[in-house]
Amino acid sequence: MPELEVRTASADDAQGVEPLVADALSRLATLRGGMALLEMIGMPEGTGPEALASALCGQALLNTTTLVATLSGSIVGAAVVVRTNVGLDLIGVHTARAMRRRRIGSSLLDASRALARELDVRFEALALPGDQSVKSLLEAGGFKARLLRMAADR
Ligand SMILES: CC(C)(COP(=O)(O)OP(=O)(O)OC[C@H]1O[C@@H](n2cnc3c(N)ncnc32)[C@H](O)[C@@H]1OP(=O)(O)O)[C@@H](O)C(=O)NCCC(=O)NCCS
Repeated sequence: MPELEVRTASADDAQGVEPLVADALSRLATLRGGMALLEMIGMPEGTGPEALASALCGQALLNTTTLVATLSGSIVGAAVVVRTNVGLDLIGVHTARAMRRRRIGSSLLDASRALARELDVRFEALALPGDQSVKSLLEAGGFKARLLRMAADR
């Protein structure tokens, strides 16, 4: 059985992460609040997958850490966490389409949570309103919505 490993991304992972980022970006473009999520990590609307994968894996974004999940050395998932004034937020988690429902997302969630525990800060996960798979992942992990942030402008 190939071993699933979750670790902090490095610049060498950018190429492997790019297809995941490309898929996540096309999904974000269809979800209300998707662009605001990108803005949270300082990426302007229109940022392409190559630039985003390279910024995420190079840990070049302020207060942002990227984790990758690998199976036999291949990247099969990624998660992005952001350090805020009050804690650590999981702002994105993505598993390669062909590899879903094999607990890769859950392992990334657990690893993100473990990071917050190491820092001894509160951990929360963000989900966009239409992102049912992320909401299901979080609910399966015992998370419950505490706050819905609503806006009239976009
Ligand atoms: C959300 C996501 C990361 C889940 O990854 P995953 O590796 O399939 O998750 P897991 O296998 O760990 O799922 C654990 C549990 O969560 C729940 N779950 C996960 N995905 C689900 C889905 N699509 N529908 C219903 N329940 C789901 C299930 O209870 C599942 O357990 P089960 O398979 O035994 O039923 C994946 O579906 C994904 O990448 N979605 C796209 C997210 C995205 O790109 N959003 C925009 C940018 S962040």
